[in-house]
Amino acid sequence: MKIIAANFKMNLTKKEIDNYLKEIDNKKINNVIFFPSNLYIPYFSKYNIGSQDISFKELGSITGDTSIKQYLDFNIKYVLIGHSERRKYFNDSKYISDKVNLALKNNIIPIICIGETEEEYNNNLTKKVLKKELDEALENNITLLNNEIIIAYEPIFSIGTNKVLDIKEIENIISYIKSYLKNTYLLDIKVLYGGSVNLNNIGNLEKISNLDGYLIGNASLDAKSFLDLTSKIK
Ligand code: PGA
Repeated sequence: MKIIAANFKMNLTKKEIDNYLKEIDNKKINNVIFFPSNLYIPYFSKYNIGSQDISFKELGSITGDTSIKQYLDFNIKYVLIGHSERRKYFNDSKYISDKVNLALKNNIIPIICIGETEEEYNNNLTKKVLKKELDEALENNITLLNNEIIIAYEPIFSIGTNKVLDIKEIENIISYIKSYLKNTYLLDIKVLYGGSVNLNNIGNLEKISNLDGYLIGNASLDAKSFLDLTSKIK
């Protein structure tokens, strides 16, 4: 069964969360991991939960940040690291390696987000960019082998835009990521695809043979249609 990561980003208010929870109650969604805003993480305790980020430090004087130790109190099992929005607004590319290390040290599964811009894609730089992002995340890491790591491939220009690459292209890129990680780091890693996954394109995306799941933003925000979407994912 594929992994489905539901990334709410900075969406939904308390009232909307209450309705969401009513809608998903008692539904068969064991393969879904919810990434709500920090404040609402405790309300999802019945489900698989992850945080959208962690601080690059374990504890201390960093105003506005949340430590992995604090998330651990709420039983998170996963963390998104290096989402393109974090890279863009918070200069996160600098901290990827520290964050991956912290996650692994605390037995949390990092979902490392990588992806190229439209310009890089047009200039045929996709593999180069992905290799660089993978190396930045993994090369200083000595505890890789015994730990689970997940990669989310998200072309940045596909996020929230409905511009999805041809499925053959996605398949080739996933295969590149998997073989690079196997050959360089001896890792067998699950790879998710993210970027405008929705009810209209899921049938087509499901034809991709080497995909292990999806990272879903917008289409996870409405519980009813999200449940519909999850039912179409095998
Ligand atoms: P989207 O977001 O599904 O709204 O494109 C995906 C993501 O940014 O993780």
